[in-house]
Amino acid sequence: MRRAQRDGEMVAVLMWGHGAAQGPSRGACVTFQLTMAAVFTVLLITAVAFAVQAFQPHPQPCAQCPFDWIGFRGKCYYFSEDESNWTSSQNNCSALGASLAVFDSAEDLSFTMRHKGSSPHWVGLSREGKEHPWEWVNRSPLSHLFQVQGDGLCAYLGDAGLSSSHCSARRNWVCTKPALQKPRKNFCIST
Ligand SMILES: *[C@@H]1O[C@H](CO)[C@@H](O)[C@H](O)[C@H]1NC(C)=O
Ligand SMILES: *[C@@H]1O[C@H](CO)[C@@H](O)[C@H](O)[C@H]1NC(C)=O
Repeated sequence: MRRAQRDGEMVAVLMWGHGAAQGPSRGACVTFQLTMAAVFTVLLITAVAFAVQAFQPHPQPCAQCPFDWIGFRGKCYYFSEDESNWTSSQNNCSALGASLAVFDSAEDLSFTMRHKGSSPHWVGLSREGKEHPWEWVNRSPLSHLFQVQGDGLCAYLGDAGLSSSHCSARRNWVCTKPALQKPRKNFCIST
């Protein structure tokens, strides 16, 4: 009887102590804590979402070409509106930090064919004489991938592919120059 009474007192003391530590309205406190936890979680998720978005660069073209130029496989192409002879065309490409078009692959040739329209365009291919080999303006020899029709010393792109004529003929021309590479290649889409 006495023992049970003491136990009861002790339980009461413990409960009173607990209640004192938590404050009188324990239910309201828990609700407040849950609300704060929910608000904090939402804020955290929002912050993480913003951070992820900020550090996720939107995909952009890997190659940068000047306005009015067309990018293709790491090079920028410029199709002239004016016509000029081969030497003057090359000088005008030079003035734009480029050269008359140099093709590294059959794809370069077909790309240029698609974009040149109906007018023949000078390209950066010439030879010193009919018995001399064709040479690109960057001094590399003409690969066996390409064939040049005609017996001129300067090459242009005609409707049937590469052809040649007198260098003094006035034609449109195509310039090429290397495209600027974006520093972060992993986050861009190839063009
Ligand atoms: C070549 O470029 C120069 C300026 O760089 C320009 O004055 C000239 O008209 C151009 N020639 C042709 C045929 O477009
Ligand atoms: C090429 O054109 C330029 C400018 O029009 C001219 O000064 C030059 O004499 C021409 N050269 C040839 C070989 O026709």
